[in-house]
Amino acid sequence: MTAVSWELFERQVNACRLCPLCERIRNKVPGQGDRSAPLMLIGEGPGEVEDAQGLAFVGPAGQLLTKMLAAIGLPRERVYICNVVKCRPPGNRVPEEAEIQACMLHLRMQVALVKPRVILLLGATAARATLGPDTRIMRDRGVWQQRKGVWMMPTWHPSALLRFPERKQTAWQDMQALRDKLRELGLYPDLFSDV
Ligand code: URA
Repeated sequence: MTAVSWELFERQVNACRLCPLCERIRNKVPGQGDRSAPLMLIGEGPGEVEDAQGLAFVGPAGQLLTKMLAAIGLPRERVYICNVVKCRPPGNRVPEEAEIQACMLHLRMQVALVKPRVILLLGATAARATLGPDTRIMRDRGVWQQRKGVWMMPTWHPSALLRFPERKQTAWQDMQALRDKLRELGLYPDLFSDV
């Protein structure tokens, strides 16, 4: 078996033609951040600004996400951020099941490379792709589940918070739960020490 490496990951994403999404994009958006971060964030798929820049979460939702992380004292550069699908679905529609399944190859490789201890799932698409199709964001957000030794929690997608600001209160609870989990696991000791 070929050893997983970031080089292989990048080549695989760049060469990928497994679904038709790549036919209408400007850039693939593989993800970015600290490649050995204990915390990984997974969103749905690139939007217009992300497609233009080739970077995940750099548009309006990304700016809110940066603020949400800063609110618990976590600089964005200290986490790894990516999406379920690496190519922008036309008009920002939700990616189809076949597109998600095709792209899971890349996401699985990314998780294997980063080896996060905690994953924050942003929105229903990320939660269902990762935790299974029975996941319901309304019911399951804020609830921790451990899979293969990795702690995972679904929360609202920042785009949903821009559309439904009344959800910000529960989003803040989720961010505090995230900070508590990172502290409990002894992660980011320079940021979240008990002393
Ligand atoms: N929404 C997402 O799910 N991902 C991005 O990168 C931007 C917006």
